Amino acid sequence: MSKYLITSALPYANGPIHFGHIAGAYLPADVFNRFLHQKREDVLYVCGTDEHGVAITINAEKAGVPYKEYVDGHHKTIKAFFDKLNIRFDHFSRTTIAEHYPLSQEFFTELYKKGLIKPAVEQQFYCPKCDRFLADRYVTGSCPKCGAPDVRGDECTKCGEWLEPSKVVNPTCKVCGSKPEIREVTQYFLDLPAFEPKLKAWLESKTDWKPNVKNKALSLISEGLVKRAITRELSWGVPVPLPEAKGKVLYVWFDAPIGYISSTMEWAKLKGQPDAWKDWWFGKDVKLVHFIGKDNIIFHTIIWPAMLMGQDKPYVLPDNVPGNEFYNLENRKFSKSEGWYIDTDDFFSKYSVDALRYAIASNAPETSDSQFLWEDFAARNNELADTLGNLVNRCFSFMKKNFDGKIPAQGELTAEDKALLDAAQAAFDETGRCYYGYKVRQAASTAMAFAAAANKYVNDTAPWKLRKTDLARCGTVLNVATRAIIDAAILLYPIIPDAAAKIMAKAGAACDGAPEFKPYAESLDGRALGADDSLLFTKILPEQVQAEVEKLKASAKPQA
Ligand code: MF3
Ligand code: ZN
Repeated sequence: MSKYLITSALPYANGPIHFGHIAGAYLPADVFNRFLHQKREDVLYVCGTDEHGVAITINAEKAGVPYKEYVDGHHKTIKAFFDKLNIRFDHFSRTTIAEHYPLSQEFFTELYKKGLIKPAVEQQFYCPKCDRFLADRYVTGSCPKCGAPDVRGDECTKCGEWLEPSKVVNPTCKVCGSKPEIREVTQYFLDLPAFEPKLKAWLESKTDWKPNVKNKALSLISEGLVKRAITRELSWGVPVPLPEAKGKVLYVWFDAPIGYISSTMEWAKLKGQPDAWKDWWFGKDVKLVHFIGKDNIIFHTIIWPAMLMGQDKPYVLPDNVPGNEFYNLENRKFSKSEGWYIDTDDFFSKYSVDALRYAIASNAPETSDSQFLWEDFAARNNELADTLGNLVNRCFSFMKKNFDGKIPAQGELTAEDKALLDAAQAAFDETGRCYYGYKVRQAASTAMAFAAAANKYVNDTAPWKLRKTDLARCGTVLNVATRAIIDAAILLYPIIPDAAAKIMAKAGAACDGAPEFKPYAESLDGRALGADDSLLFTKILPEQVQAEVEKLKASAKPQA
């Protein structure tokens, strides 16, 4: 048996995150984690906030807040958002914890000792007015690759190219707006070309990766890897562990993925078993799975694996990197500053977390970009209400009224009953394959198709008619229907955990933690239904959809 170590991209502690992030790197991972718990696999899911880098220092400076205070605030907000969405990490840490600094320095030192990190003199932009080197986003200008104006110094927001510091054309200092000059400065470069053959063979051995991820990684290699500067002139970050490198810190993308490990270390320490992290990071039987958005592919399939390969300690390499495409909002990127966003407090005061999770899962950006559409959200919510909610409500209130709140005994099964129970087994097989294969969309639709089959079964067998003609048969039908309802809840548990737990409690089959992923096998005869009669889902009306879309359009600033 293998162990699964799951991670989601560490979000920058630099502002609230939105449904687009959730769809790309968090919900798919949470679903995978919950499913593995249902399969009784050994699994650990870690994450945390990414708290260094220029995106953060610029904003903290703008806000006039000390860096630490700035990231503290965002760490809290982000954590609360994940809690709200039921994203259940085993541990959610941050890259400013004590463990993180010496570990990141150790990664640097080992590569440095092997000559895989080397110093070189580089030309860099320096702002004489601000009296400092302009790392990454401190400089703006045109993209050297596609020519787009006003892009950030580290990444072209237009073509997506990751830029070497200070390669932009017509540079401007982001802070004071003046024209920077070129100065020479020593930086440290990670020798990616040295890893090329090993990376290529490793990537080619991956037969079960998503084609978009594997192809992107291999094409980066075939274009030829270049040495990358992994240090910066900044006062915020992990200090470069060399006496001659005073005033330099590690580039945020060097230290951030190490956060996956330091988060695990902190988890182990809090558990009172400080060495337990090694069972995960040095375990031969561990499957390390990184959930990310597509903009992070190069870091997780090239740079991070190279950093791991260059260590003396026997770190595991990623087993898979399920990278997702982007998830937009009504045909445009989510952007709070452009007024194109959803106020999440307002959202959750009206709508259910599970409905959102189901809507995102059903339309996850697995193979191409997708988006949150209010109309689609309402349709998915209403599908839950009509198919699952209605089924539960119909059957359970009928049993409360006519069977004293108990599930009647199962008599002899007819072909129709057996067909439904066989369909349950088939649904478990198929949905299980989808969950294992990072296909959340298909898992959602297969599981829901089974709930629809259960609905049809109840319509066809019409227990409300049987009550008058054949009470025993009526009982069998309700017994079988309840079993199917429980099965649907178990199948959908990774996606709609709260509703699934509620359904199981209503069916008198409450379960502590994740219900095992297999058809429910225990006898239901005579079991008392739970007391809770509340509705699972409330329908969303067309006028509500219209109002939401209008509100969004009213808050939008014109598109650049
Ligand atoms: N903070 C980065 C982002 O939001 C992701 C970091 S992932 C890690 O794009 F691997 F570096 F941790
Ligand atoms: Zn300046």
